Amino acid sequence: MKKNTTTGSVSRFLILLLPAIVAVKSSIDIKRSDFPDGFLFGTATSAYQIEGAYLEDGSGPSNWDHFCGNLPNGDNGYIAEDYYHRYMEDIERMHSLGVNAYRFSISWSRVLPKGKFGEVNQAAIIFYSKIIDNILLRGIQPFVTIHHFDYPQELEDRYGGWLSPLMQEDFVYFAEICFKNFADRVKYWATINEPNLFVEMAYVRGTYPPARCSPPYGNCAQGNSDVEPLTAANNMLLAHAKASKLYGEQFKLEVNGMIGIIVHAFMYIPLTDNKEDKEAAKRALAFNVAWILDPVVFGDYPPEMRCYHGNELPNFSSDERALLRDSIDFIGINHYSTFYAKDCIYSSCICNDSSCTKGNDRPLRGFVSTFVERNGVPIGEPTGMIRFFVVPKGMEDIVLYVKDRYHNKAIFVTENGYSSPDNEDKSYQHDVKRINFHKSYLSYLAKATRNGADVRGYFIWTLMDDFEWANGYKTKFGLYRVHLPTLNRIPKLSAGWYRDFLSNASSSDVESSDYILSDEKKYMAY
Ligand code: BGC
Repeated sequence: MKKNTTTGSVSRFLILLLPAIVAVKSSIDIKRSDFPDGFLFGTATSAYQIEGAYLEDGSGPSNWDHFCGNLPNGDNGYIAEDYYHRYMEDIERMHSLGVNAYRFSISWSRVLPKGKFGEVNQAAIIFYSKIIDNILLRGIQPFVTIHHFDYPQELEDRYGGWLSPLMQEDFVYFAEICFKNFADRVKYWATINEPNLFVEMAYVRGTYPPARCSPPYGNCAQGNSDVEPLTAANNMLLAHAKASKLYGEQFKLEVNGMIGIIVHAFMYIPLTDNKEDKEAAKRALAFNVAWILDPVVFGDYPPEMRCYHGNELPNFSSDERALLRDSIDFIGINHYSTFYAKDCIYSSCICNDSSCTKGNDRPLRGFVSTFVERNGVPIGEPTGMIRFFVVPKGMEDIVLYVKDRYHNKAIFVTENGYSSPDNEDKSYQHDVKRINFHKSYLSYLAKATRNGADVRGYFIWTLMDDFEWANGYKTKFGLYRVHLPTLNRIPKLSAGWYRDFLSNASSSDVESSDYILSDEKKYMAY
């Protein structure tokens, strides 16, 4: 009797899934074999977004622990996905997907609760060592981000975090501890995740700690949105260059490793065919992407920024320029979406609609206003993130921009992902839109690779639904759903698709996959 009920619910479930399966079958065909041999395919996570274990085993408070009390949704990373205690099962999950790389970050405040003003927390070293050993055992390469938005609150309290040049030495100290303990097994190192996005959120808009900003960007208790982001980014760039030098001199040869930096890279296309808007799109790329990449390849900020910012933009000494120049072996790009760019130098940019970026009449934005629609038509399908739309061709465009500007440096797409719209909450495990997102972005990535870009890897953001910074747990990018009351992980349809993609099975195999049945069993349990 019981058996019949189960069979009945399975068939009902499959009927419900039918439209999803048809949609999966009807979209673009892309295979792992469309990418070069040795290409890394992985999932990406970051420490604060999944680990939890707040103040456990000697860990110290981070800038995010300190800040989270201010989040309107009341969310925080105290427990997060409890990865600190469940990492072994998550590693098994990644192994079952068939990835050959895993990008994760190291919690600075877990390793050095007081920065260089205190002891190294050995429990943290053991924790990350176990992760590295266990993924390697399963044929998965560690791709380690040293700093991904979180740092010891101690450093903010002592000297104001990234606004102070003292942070450079603290970062190098932390990086050295990571290299000393893990560089014998880790080949891929990213010093800092998205300095450009971090300073925008932390010092322009004030929506990330230390929540500093000034009008017209936001109303914070303190801050200067015109100058502080430039100062903080300058310190981050120099910190990167010093850590990279240390790595090159003392650790690189150990496993013939690579070190790079990761930039948040939206694509920008002109709003109209006017030459002013075409220039504006180029300027937007310079002020957002080249802001971080020009210094680490050429040793100075982009000429466009020098031209418009004047004295606000810090100057590098000749020693600093030499230190920065060629301080990367690869460029990491996190790509999600594309904007229309409109010129604000020759035409007026009054920002009276919510899709337009405020403060665009200032040098910080390169005098560019960005839009997500043209003549009332959105640039792509909307997602669960405001201003993130599905524009697959942007992947090819941004990769080719980076390839051309930086003489075909090695590139890793260190993040690309889709957040389900809120209104799809009930069925968000049946995430056909996420599958189609990845397939279409991957097909444009393959095209860029065929056009000569030296792309070496692709990481899906993210393994499982996580703490999405100021958006808390409401925004969901994961291949796995996390049932918050139990913290159980449940594969979404996209997890099955990624597994099939990685085993070079064709899309239609999603239909016959036993994954659907096991997914269904778990789903029925909640
Ligand atoms: C960040 C991630 C974040 C993701 C989605 C990226 O900018 O590196 O930490 O979760 O975007 O918002």
